Order: sequence, then structure tokens, then C-alpha cells
Amino acid sequence: MNLLSITDLSPDEIGAILDRADELKARRGDPAGDSRSILAGKSLAAIFEKPSTRTRVSLEVAMTDLGGHALYLSSKDLQLGRGETIADTARVLSRFVSGIAARVYDHATVEELGRHATVPVINVLSNAEHPCQILADLMTMRERFGRLEGLKVAWVGDGNNVCNSTILAAAMMGMEMAVASPPGYWPDRKILDQAESLGGRTAVVADPVEAVRGADVVETDTWISMGDEAEAAKRLAAFGRYQVNADLMRHAKSAAIVLHCLPAHRGQEITDEVMDGPKSAILDQSENRLHSVKAVLEKLMA
Ligand code: CP
Ligand code: NVA
Repeated sequence: MNLLSITDLSPDEIGAILDRADELKARRGDPAGDSRSILAGKSLAAIFEKPSTRTRVSLEVAMTDLGGHALYLSSKDLQLGRGETIADTARVLSRFVSGIAARVYDHATVEELGRHATVPVINVLSNAEHPCQILADLMTMRERFGRLEGLKVAWVGDGNNVCNSTILAAAMMGMEMAVASPPGYWPDRKILDQAESLGGRTAVVADPVEAVRGADVVETDTWISMGDEAEAAKRLAAFGRYQVNADLMRHAKSAAIVLHCLPAHRGQEITDEVMDGPKSAILDQSENRLHSVKAVLEKLMA
């Protein structure tokens, strides 16, 4: 199976991945809990069209911890960068490795890889979705609240790839979702319709206070995603009031947590005070990329 969208997993499969991720987290560093037989002898090809810190490191460390090996492949250095087709790349890599992860601009690229690979393909960020990120986010919410169902998640800022996956995951896991974005930067209608068909309740509003009111989780992301750099000035002007700061956090529940997939642009979408403050679960969220992706790699490649 491929993991191109968070909806490629069922709610039960997401629950099982999160349970397994908790287990793998608990046993990391415990010599009695050695995980190196899980993917012994298997390799993952990780193709990156864009930069990465967390995704690259979590994939490489996860593969090592599970006894396998990850190859970091910049698309610029692959023949893909000189015009070899995505389909041929997928077919050839499938003869060498047991899984392909890809970070791409256009979501159609991971779909094309998925169509032609004979090994599992994992989307590690496209313009449409970031499913591995959302698994880490759900893991963090569960750690903090002991449940997902019934939580209210408020997304403040750009209705982007990470927001899309959050909306879909919220719908699947019985969470309430509110998005506050400036007009023109709302999540795709297609994603909102898909969430609705999954039973989701997603409110999209212009006012950040309205979205955050009563929220258990307040989440944000950069205003300028990779690929949006040419629009930076326009975006900075549009997003000014969509900052997660201490004033905004006063409208969330008192026990609310703050999430950010990172990298953060401190002083833009989030203040230092919130990012480094007591409500921030951001570093746990980041660490959980490792544990949750291990559970994904095991499910798809073991
Ligand atoms: N959150 C995330 O995907 O981070 P990187 O861009 O550093 O991989
Ligand atoms: N929305 C951001 C997420 C980075 C992990 C981007 O696509 O650049």
C-alpha cells in the first residue's frame, strides 16, 4: 500500500500506527527492546525535491533503528533532474529498494510514483498533504490528552498542505476543526468536501479569535511554504493578524497546547513567547516524527 494522503489509512489503521509508535517510543534505547530485526536488510529510497531537516533525519534514523538503510536522494542529483521520467524512476528504484519516500512540489508526482512503483510509496510532503506530519501531531495530541475524539483543533494561518492533512485527520478521528485564514488562503474546497464526506465538521472563518475559542489544540505553520517564496511580500501583508501569540492563546482552553510542524518563522506565525512557553508541545511533536514514521515504515515495508 501507499501513503500518499492521510485518508489512505482508515481510522483503525491510524489508531494502530499510533499505538505502535507509542510502543516504539517507550522502548527506544532499551537494549531489551531492540528493533533492528524489523526492517533488517531493507532499504528506503528517500527522494527530496525540497529541503528538509525533520523529515530527512527522522526517515534516516528510523531506518537505521529498524535495522535497515535509507538513501537520501536529492532530485537534482538523480537522473530525474535531467529528464528521466517519474515512471521509469519508480520502476527502477522498485528493483533496488523496499520502499520509496518522496517530498515533492506537485502532488501529482507522488501519485505518478505510486502508480508505477511496485514497492510502497510514502508522501513526505507535497503541495497538497503531509500525512507523516499529521501522524506525529495526532500522537502528540494523544500523549497530552489521552484521546483524540472530541478534541477541538484550531488551525491559524495558511490553509496549506499541513492544514489539509489536519482537516482530513480531524474528520477521520472525530475531532472538531476550525480554520482561521485570510480570504484567498483558505483550504481547498475539495479537501473541505472530502472532510465533510468523512463526517467532519470544519468551520472556516476569517477571525482567529473565533477559531481558537474553546480549542484544545492550536496549530500553525509558516505563512510562506516551500514554493511560495515569490509571493512572500503579499503573504506577509495578508497574514499579519494570524499570529499565534499569548493574546490569541487566552481564547483557547486553559489546558490548550500549541503545535507547529516546524520550521517556524519566529515573530511571524508564532511568537517566541508561545513557542518556548508552557503550552508548547512543539518539540515533543517534532520528536514524534521519528516514532510515528517508524510505525509507518514497519506497516508498509516489514
Ligand atoms: N515538519 C517538517 O516536515 O520539517 P522538515 O521540512 O524539516 O522536514
Ligand atoms: N507548509 C510547509 C511545511 C513545511 C514542513 C511547506 O510546505 O513548506
